[in-house]
Amino acid sequence: METRARLAARVAEIAPFHVMEVQTAARALEAAGRSIVHMEIGEPDFPTPAPVIAAAQRAIAEGGVYYTSALGLPELRAAIAAHYASHYGVRIGPERVIVTAGSSAALLLVMALLVNRDDRILLADPGYPCTRHFVRVLEGDPFGVPVGADTDYQLTASLIERHWTPGTRGALIASPSNPTGTTVARDEMARIAQTVRRQGGTLIVDEIYLGLSYDAPPVSALAIDDDAFVVSSFSKYFNMTGWRLGWIVAPERHVRDLEKLAQNLYISPPTPSQRAALACFLPETLAIVEARRQAFRARRDYLVPALRELGFGIPVTPSGGFFVYADVTRFSRDSEHFCREALEVAGVALTPGVDFGRHRASDHVRFSYTIDEPKLHEAIARLRRWLRG
Ligand SMILES: Cc1ncc(COP(=O)(O)O)c(C=O)c1O
Repeated sequence: METRARLAARVAEIAPFHVMEVQTAARALEAAGRSIVHMEIGEPDFPTPAPVIAAAQRAIAEGGVYYTSALGLPELRAAIAAHYASHYGVRIGPERVIVTAGSSAALLLVMALLVNRDDRILLADPGYPCTRHFVRVLEGDPFGVPVGADTDYQLTASLIERHWTPGTRGALIASPSNPTGTTVARDEMARIAQTVRRQGGTLIVDEIYLGLSYDAPPVSALAIDDDAFVVSSFSKYFNMTGWRLGWIVAPERHVRDLEKLAQNLYISPPTPSQRAALACFLPETLAIVEARRQAFRARRDYLVPALRELGFGIPVTPSGGFFVYADVTRFSRDSEHFCREALEVAGVALTPGVDFGRHRASDHVRFSYTIDEPKLHEAIARLRRWLRG
């Protein structure tokens, strides 16, 4: 007889990523000989910059493969702090930087530091789904506040005020956001920080896409609120998704507790990746990633008007990252069905809104522009043929 282990109830509340299912279906069609344009993928198509790969090869050849401090290599923490000064004009001490296994581990550590059972964290709906799952795994209450075009698909100070309850512990903003690519303006971020502080809560800002900002010089929340927890990553701007490296900038008084959590949860971030990441801040690497940022901007500048012209609703032009969150109600009120048809009929893989929350999820899809311009043109041509019949 099969014996079944009793599982923790929280597991049932963690939703799978539908995008992975889209990807599986897309790969099956490709295996059967169909050509598919992939616009479902949430990672840069560019390879890791050559100086970073060379640094990793050197580090491994020299035997740099042992655990580091749970807080990360001191020289990498210093390099990240220096990057805030040169890139964002913010002075932070290296002792406030905690290197992590991707911003995923960064978000998990910050939530583990802050969230008690049933504590509420306010998040935008739509938003990046793993964040609410991290809160849930810790028995907290991730509360998705419905947001729309009127607030650039972001939380605002007044939405935070309205949804704050005695059990609310903090608010998390992702700016620029996944899936909408929209950014919180500096003034609004200042109002948000003030509101959260007045309530005695904590502001957490996910800036993983901040390096990929297109319309204005990027502003880190650290320039506005020195007491915020800022989470970021090497994954997107530095094209290092699989290296699993990110960081937290935390108020200094919390670093020791974050260190304890990191020591216990995963001992240290990956050592070869840390040694490789030291090369991210060389002028030659920065020149490569800067050229790629421009390429992403050019893709956005082509894609957004082309989608609008086809009838997709994009009321707010995305200003960062590599996503477009589009309203498909002109074509369908069932975005999962729309994505299946887009894949099977048009040969274009998209992500349905349901991956990012509940609010008007079935009216939206996410396009990723992590493909080159010829492929973007091909995707638009295919969608045009399908939608215009
Ligand atoms: C908004 C956001 N935050 C965090 C992450 C996690 O990325 P990583 O763990 O690779 O740094 C992602 C990945 O797609 C994301 O979109």
